[in-house]
Formats: sequence, structure tokens, C-alpha cells
Amino acid sequence: MKVRSSLAAAVLTSAMLLPAVGPALAAQNPAAQAPGLQKQDTLRWAAPQDLKIGTAVAGGGHHETQAYPDPFTYDQEYRQSLAAEFNSVSPENQLKWEFVHPERNTYRFAEMDAIVEFAQQNKQVVRGHTLFWHSQNPAWLEEGDFSKDELRAILKDHIQTVVGRYAGKIQQWDVANEIFNGDGTLRTTDNIWIRELGPEIIADAFRWTHEADPKAKLFFNDYGVEGVNAKSNAYLRLIPELQAQGVPVDGFAIQGHLSTRYGFPGDLRANLQRFDDLGLETAITEIDVRMDVAPGTAPTAAQLQKQAGYYQRALEACVSVDECNSFTIWGFTDKYSWVPVFFAGEGEATVMWNDFTRKPAYDALQVTLEQASPGRGNR
Ligand code: G3I
Repeated sequence: MKVRSSLAAAVLTSAMLLPAVGPALAAQNPAAQAPGLQKQDTLRWAAPQDLKIGTAVAGGGHHETQAYPDPFTYDQEYRQSLAAEFNSVSPENQLKWEFVHPERNTYRFAEMDAIVEFAQQNKQVVRGHTLFWHSQNPAWLEEGDFSKDELRAILKDHIQTVVGRYAGKIQQWDVANEIFNGDGTLRTTDNIWIRELGPEIIADAFRWTHEADPKAKLFFNDYGVEGVNAKSNAYLRLIPELQAQGVPVDGFAIQGHLSTRYGFPGDLRANLQRFDDLGLETAITEIDVRMDVAPGTAPTAAQLQKQAGYYQRALEACVSVDECNSFTIWGFTDKYSWVPVFFAGEGEATVMWNDFTRKPAYDALQVTLEQASPGRGNR
């Protein structure tokens, strides 16, 4: 049986009647148009002043093969919740190489420009994702026959161009994404940059990003590093080594793609803390909690409670660590989640149902935020 928030359902009823509208939406301010959404009853309002509560902005990637138009530019109800609930946004795919740099001499910035404009209108910070990754690279890059010097110049130009365009408008960058294997060895085979240019190129990526936007906080970001394990140990070794060489690394980010199939990573807090102890910022950047749900069925109340517990424990871990300043969910509605596209038989991983009503997981986040900052709203 689905458990829903009747308050949220009532609040959103009038919004649901609004028609989907096209890209002209980009120029409008959805927060101002959200009928009935009480700002005191949102995640961003509940959040402590020193914690950004964020979401991925749906677009690109798996959305391009789904039977709906681009969520961010077409779904007004989606935009209203995006504006009202969050004070940090991350492009889900719109800044990945394949999307933003589809041909060697072509950049596609319109979608990211619209996200940045939306964020500014709605007083949201932006997380940049990502500059240096083994995945979602365009064919011209992966299949090109470039010399080492050319590849180096291509990476530098990309970073200067993309980071420079949004300088001053991006709070945190996931500069390098998923550079380690599970056993803590570097991805020397599938990451084109490390394979062709050697591990030293990682430092250059951070240096070039810092040069292009000295104010942005620069992060490593990875999955499977929630707990203390070989991969998180590898980051714990690498980051101080780089810092000792003067490389501008500010933080370590844990994606947090969790499943109720597995136990909650109970050492998440301890893991965040050991990075904090190094003087680093930390962040949870992509959390979702998928469940085993057979097609055509709904999760049980027990499953929903278990999911809510995972979200709550992850958020509690972050708020209890001094410099864990950003907590981002990888999409806020099941309507657009990547999970069922990748994991057959799993889904319902976000905090709202398809119709934007709230799950117990939403309520768990809201209560946890309120408890972290009693009496202090955060806009
Ligand atoms: O690679 C093919 C491409 O050749 C083809 O042209 C295209 C046609 O639609 O499909 C391409 O693959 C898609 C890919 O995005 C690139 O556009 C996949 O089907 C699609 O499922 C994929 O989805 C994205 C995924 O990253 C790719 O890794 C998701 O939308 C996005 O939510 C997800 O986000 C990642 C984070 O960036 C990093 N951490 C893990 C997280 C979840 O996988």
C-alpha cells in the first residue's frame, strides 16, 4: 500500500492541473508561481543555514529515450517543486562531455545556461558535474586518434571553456568522477585521460579548474565509497598527497546510490569524519535508495519505512559532520528517476511519487533537517 502525505496532495492539486509548457518556461520564475506550496513546508526551509539541500535536475542521459519531453524545460509542476524544495541543483547530464561538448569544436550550453539562470532566479547554488570521467564521453573523443599533446590540450580547453563560462556561478565542482576501481586501484584502462596521459593529469584537471574559477570548491566524487573500504581508503591517501603538492582539492563527495537490498552503510558517518579530520569539505551528492518492486506493484509500507530510514541515516551522518555542507538527492520524483532504466525490478528510489506527492522518505528528510536546526529556517 502506498503511504502518502495528504497535506502534500492537497497542496499540489491545483498545480497538477497546469499544462506542461515548453522551453519558454526557462524565462519564468516558477517559485513565484507555485500555487499553494507553503515555503515553511519545504526541505530548503527546514535546512540548517550551513547545509545546502539539493537535487539533480532531470535532463539528458536516460531521459532522451523515455516517453516524455525534457523534464526541466517542459514540466511546470516539476519546476515548481524544484524551485520550492531545494537550494542547490546539480545538472544530471547537462554538463557531461557527451552532452555539453558533442563535437570537437561544438559546445552545447543552452540547457546548462537555463539551469544556471533558474538557480539564480530561485536563490539556489549549483554543483557542477563533471569534468573528468570515464563515462558519457562523446565518440569523437573516445574514438579519436589524438596525440598526447592534443589530448592534453583538449582537456584543458574543455575545462577552461566550461568552467570559465560559469565562473562565479558554480559553488562546487565534481572535477574528477569515479577515478578508482572498487579495489582502490586507479581506472587506468577505461578512463581515457589516465590511460593516455598518466595519473599526473588528475592534478592538472584540478589546477585548470581552479584557474578558471578560483572561488569554486573542487571535489572528487565517487560511488561505493559510503563506508570505510579500499576505494574510500584510496581517496584518503590520494587527496593529502595532492594537497602536499599544492593541488587545489577542497573536498571529497560520496554519491550515495543505496539499495534496501543491502544493509545501510553504518560507517558512513565515521567515513565522512575521517575526511573532515583532514580539513576537507565533504558532501553527499547523488543519494537515492532503490527498492525491489515487481513491475505493476507498489512498495509495501514496510519497504517505504526502510527506505525512509536509509535517507534519514544518511542525512543524520552528514549533518553531524562539521564540514559536510551539501546533501543532494539524485532526482526527487520517481517520475524521472534513472533507477528503473538501469535496474530491472528495482525502482521507487526517490522521495516523491510520480505525481509529486511525498513519501515517508521525504518526511524523514524534513524532520531530520528541522531537528538539525530547531527554530532556524533557511529560505
Ligand atoms: O551511451 C549511449 C549512447 O551511445 C546513445 O547515443 C544514447 C541514446 O540515448 O544512449 C546512451 O546511453 C545513455 C547515457 O545516459 C548517455 O546519454 C544511457 O542509456 C542512459 O541510461 C544514461 O543515463 C545517465 C547515466 O548517469 C549514465 O551513466 C543517467 O541519466 C544519469 O542519471 C546517471 O547519473 C550518474 C552520475 O552522473 C554519476 N554517478 C552515477 C549516476 C547514476 O548512474
